[in-house]
This record gives sequence, C-alpha cells and structure tokens, in this order.
Amino acid sequence: MEISVRKSDVFRTRGAIECLIVPVLEGRPPAGLDGAPAGLKTELAELIERQELSPELSRTLVYYPRSTPKVKRLVMVGFGKAESLDLDTLRNAFARVVKQVEPLPVRTVSLVVSEELRVGGDYSATIGACVEGALLADYRFDAFKSKKKKSRGVVLEELRFFPGDAKATCDNAVVRFSELSAEAALIARDLGNTPSNHLQPLALAERAKQLMGEAGGKFSMFDRKKIESLGMNSLMCVARGSAAPPCLIFMEYKPKTRKRLPKVALVGKGVTFDTGGISIKPSAGMEDMKFDMCGAAAVVGTMWGAAKLGLPVHLIGVVPAVENMPGADATRPGDVVTALNGKTIEVINTDAEGRLILADALTYTEREYKPDIIIDLATLTGSCIVALGHVAAALMSEDEALSKALRDAAETSGEPLWPLPMYPAYRDLLKSQYADVKNIGGKWGGAITAGFFLSHFVDKTPWAHLDIASVAWNQEGKAYAGKGATGYGVRLLLTWLAALRR
Ligand code: BES
Ligand code: ZN
Ligand code: ZN
Repeated sequence: MEISVRKSDVFRTRGAIECLIVPVLEGRPPAGLDGAPAGLKTELAELIERQELSPELSRTLVYYPRSTPKVKRLVMVGFGKAESLDLDTLRNAFARVVKQVEPLPVRTVSLVVSEELRVGGDYSATIGACVEGALLADYRFDAFKSKKKKSRGVVLEELRFFPGDAKATCDNAVVRFSELSAEAALIARDLGNTPSNHLQPLALAERAKQLMGEAGGKFSMFDRKKIESLGMNSLMCVARGSAAPPCLIFMEYKPKTRKRLPKVALVGKGVTFDTGGISIKPSAGMEDMKFDMCGAAAVVGTMWGAAKLGLPVHLIGVVPAVENMPGADATRPGDVVTALNGKTIEVINTDAEGRLILADALTYTEREYKPDIIIDLATLTGSCIVALGHVAAALMSEDEALSKALRDAAETSGEPLWPLPMYPAYRDLLKSQYADVKNIGGKWGGAITAGFFLSHFVDKTPWAHLDIASVAWNQEGKAYAGKGATGYGVRLLLTWLAALRR
C-alpha cells in the first residue's frame, strides 16, 4: 500500500476524493472539515442533528454526500474522547477504516490530520499510527487457499494524509518507520501462520536466509552435525525425537560506520511444532503448536526491519530451530543431558523444550558474540497465559534500565508487556536430585521458573526474557492484530532499538 503525505488542501486536489475519513470525537464537530464545501458541511450538520454520528470507538458509518459530487463517500469513524486519544486509538480506528472499505470499490483513502488528532510534537506520530493500523489490518494469510481473496476487483492502494495546517511539520522518517515496522511484523505473522509441514527447521532457515538477502543482512547456520560436535546436547535432546533435522540460525546486521555501535543479540524460540515429545500434549488444540516458533518469527522480522530501516545498531539474531516429536530416539523423562556451558540438566518433562533449546543458544550467543544486551523471545509457557490472559506478554529481567526501556517501547508500539517477580525462591524450585538443574519447577509459577531456568545460561550480559505465549497468536480477531499469528514483538523491538541510547 502506498502512503503519501501531502501539503495541499484535500478539497482543492484534482479529481474526485474517493473516500474521505471523518474522525468523530466526543463533543466536537467532525474533525478536519474546516475547508469543506458549504454543502457538505450542511449535510454533516444534519447528520449530527439526527444523531447519526457516534464518537464511540467501535463505530463507523459510510455516507454518500448528495451535495458534493467531488467527495464520493465519507467514512465516519468514532475516535472516542479527545483527551484519551493515543497512538493505539489511532491504530484501531484505521484498522476499522480498512475493514470498512474492504468490500467497497475504494482505491484511495484520504484523511485530513487536524490539530485535534495530533499526538506528540508534530503530525508524524499520528500519521505513523494510522499507517500501522491500516497495514496490520489489511493483512490476510491465504498462501494455502486455492482461491485468493485478493483477486477481487478493487483493492485499497493508497493512504493519503493531509496535515491540517500549512505550517504543520511531518517527519517522513517517522512515517517510514511505521510503514517498515508494520511490514516487518507481517513477515513474522506469515512465518507464524505457516503450517508446520511447510515450515520445518530447515525451511525456516531458508526463509531467514532469503529475508536477510533481501534486507542486506548476513545469514549463516549450524546443521545437526555441527550442533552435535559443539556439544549442544540440550538443544539436541529436543531435536532427536524428530526426523526433521534441527539447525541453529544466525543473522547479523551491521550498518557501515566507524562509530562504536551498541551490540544487541536477539534470541528466538524456534520450535516449528511442539507435540510435547514423550510428555505428549493432549490432542485438543494441539494444532496451535505450529505457533511455537513465534519467538523466532519475531527475531527474523525484527532483523529484516532493522536492516531495511538502517537502524544504528549492530544486531545479531539467533534462532535455535527444532521440531519436538516423540520419535523412537526421543529424550525420555528423567534423562540427564550436559548443556554447552557444562551444566547438567535433568529433563523431567519433554514438553518444557523451549528452555532446553534456548539454553544452548544463549550460551553460544553470549560466548561467541559478546553482545552488550541479550533479549530472548519465546512462546515459553502456558503459565504465562494463565497469569496475563491474552493481553500482555511477560517480562523478566534483573536489569532495571533495560526493563524500563522495553516497557516504554511496548507502550509506544501498543504491545503490552508486564514484569514478573524474580524472587530467588522461584529459582530454588529448579534444584534437581540427579543433575545441576531440572527443566521444570513444579506446578505453580511456571512462567517464572521457566525464566529462571534460562538464567542458568546467561552469565553476565544484561538480559531480558519475554514470554510471548500469551500474545503470539489470537483465537478471535482483534482489530489490527487479526486472527492467528500477531507478529508480537517486532514493532516493540524496532521501537526499542530505534530509541537505544548510543
Ligand atoms: N510451547 C509450550 C508453551 C505454550 C503452551 C504456549 C500453550 C502457548 C500455549 C511449551 O513448550 C510448553 O509446553 N510448556 C509447558 C511447560 C510445562 C511442561 C512445565 C507448559 O507451559 O505447559
Ligand atoms: Zn512444550
Ligand atoms: Zn513449546
């Protein structure tokens, strides 16, 4: 979809206005219509008189003006209260705009960005949020449908923004950031939605390679032999139950500059399907375990976005990719394996596999890359969903500044993130009778004990763990996040990286 920000007056543009968005704020006249033809204003006044317009957030109304042939149609959208207007309201509103015009023969949508819609210093944040909402809502995953919906006649091709006053400034880089970060999130959603038989570990690596090639980043990987020879037994003990070989994917992006840049490593759980292994899961809902690589998808999407945007950061992406299956050679509950860092792990439950593959990936990442910061993302525990529902992801970190920066970014990007407590008593639950540590901590506090398990494999680097099991996919469609994989984390991380202090 094309995005344009225009200096001109929308009502003086040549040709027809196919679809004009009219934001309706509580207790205010419809926004951005100061320059509208008198006839149109009269029609709107009538609508207001008849109480046809609603500022409620969930409301939209399509209206075909009689008086002004130049304006083909209006889509009036409830924007709520002016005081509570924020970036997420704008995203949701524009998601509704896209859904509303989808069945209509509309190629372009125009919005006058009036003063009331400004969030922050200039108009760019407002426009950026509208762009994000529109692009994220316009997504559909029909790669496996023989009839594509996209083949219908007219599709939305362009969003046109008209900043309300002539002096208004709009930073195009901000708008571009929104556009690319939304596209990066869609890459993650595509990966997440792809069924597991089409996205086994090596296929995931192939996609990562393609995407890095396209964005100008580096790609490399370790195959099964290399993983074994290095002694990544924790990773291998998950992979061995599957006929599909595992791999460890590395992506790297470094802009050309002599300046010393912060070096950040992102590590994503890439379980392309999680049956639970020998500790097999119940069959109801097991199909959702194709989403168990959404942490990996977020890392790949972020790498792509950071490279495309040319962010001033040296970024490493690491994805341990495996399929967790109960094959003949699968790990048995009670088995003890020695991880890459030398610690021994008693595998009590083979369904707690994400932490096992992340363990070796974290050790390797810290040792070989020596990053300034490590962040991992993983659909790690059902317990995270019990704790937070499908609203927020869980954050664990002992680094206060890092936690705060991530939560600020989450606030900006509209991807809620909430901290879990890190009392040492939780860590104690992982003590094993037979090994240094066991891979589960018992029935309760599972998201926290899982995070503490990972902490055994990060030595001294500032580190944050994001359990995204609660938000990585939706059962019901949410406004701009849609049904299926959400791409959670991509826009959050890009926002955080863009703000990273150098
Ligand atoms: N991939 C799952 C976590 C998960 C479950 C995410 C449901 C989203 C929805 C993970 O590998 C897992 O199975 N975790 C177990 C751990 C338990 C055995 C300690 C869990 O959370 O039940
Ligand atoms: Zn599992
Ligand atoms: Zn899993």
